[in-house]
Amino acid sequence: MNSDLQRIVFQAETEFKSAKSLPELENTKSLFLGKKGKLTIQFNNLKGLDEAHRKELGNELNLAKKTIEKTLASCRKKLVEDRIAKKLKSQAIDISLPGRGLNSGTIHPLSLSLRRIGEIFQGMGFEVAEGPEIETDWFNFTALNNPKDHPARSMQDTFYIENKDEFGQNLLLRTHTSPVQVRYAIDNEPPIRVISPGKTYRVDNDATHSPMFHQIEGLWLDETINFSNLKGVYINFLKEFFESTNLQVRFRPSYFPFTEPSAEVDMKFSNGPLKGKWLEVAGAGMVHPNVVANFGLQSKKIKGFAFGMGLERLTMLKFGINDLRLFFENDLRFLRQFQC
Ligand code: PHE
Repeated sequence: MNSDLQRIVFQAETEFKSAKSLPELENTKSLFLGKKGKLTIQFNNLKGLDEAHRKELGNELNLAKKTIEKTLASCRKKLVEDRIAKKLKSQAIDISLPGRGLNSGTIHPLSLSLRRIGEIFQGMGFEVAEGPEIETDWFNFTALNNPKDHPARSMQDTFYIENKDEFGQNLLLRTHTSPVQVRYAIDNEPPIRVISPGKTYRVDNDATHSPMFHQIEGLWLDETINFSNLKGVYINFLKEFFESTNLQVRFRPSYFPFTEPSAEVDMKFSNGPLKGKWLEVAGAGMVHPNVVANFGLQSKKIKGFAFGMGLERLTMLKFGINDLRLFFENDLRFLRQFQC
């Protein structure tokens, strides 16, 4: 390459490298490669040369142009990268800062229990279903083999709503979450494994009863389900929930319109402050054939078990709480004792 060209190449490379921004680089580029750029002028001069010189100088000019373009491309790339790096730096967040408001809240003990109960049953393959708190008479009672004027209805006195629903059905605040299971069993095909947690209402108010409380009910329907499946599932649940393999559990005969046979489930701790006392924790039984039929299923073929328990009661036993009203008074001295 002749010395003139070498000078131009050197000059271009130095100027490209000292450009501080992309627009500056593009301006510098035009000084060499633009219409009136130093290299372009050299190309234009080729016209006046004889063939041998034109060929020789032409080759050198092409080489010079390639060298300049290569430097230009790498300078451009560097400026783009610098711009991105600068932007990232200016937008960086310091994730090592401790979060604000840490330790300013706790999870309500009922929510803690509910989460744990959900986890345990989901671990056994149950789904979780929710439903309306204002129910029709049919879903809350009649579908569950508890017809109008049946004395068993008095076990679950509730709050009635004056208006009827769009089909003229009586409305009430649900007394248990069993109606969710009716809805679920009508909408799904067996095998069905579902728990239904939620708020429930009854006309009760003292240290162990509140007009609003929470239930979790469970239902397993399939062709081969029997009472030992109920015992296996429920005893396993209690052991996991109370984190104890030393629990004694008994199924005491009882009556519910929707199950046959029916049982009340009692358990006994082998240590701790409640050691040695039998405590009632749930109602349970084999789903009554009339109820299976109300699900729209063949009661000769499909069997199932159901159980229902009070979330407050289980939580009181788990944490040693002696007054149910504490759950709803929102006293921070009480609530702050529960960390997740
Ligand atoms: N629904 C019953 C209640 O609230 C509990 C229960 C559920 C009992 C399922 C047996 C079977 O009293």
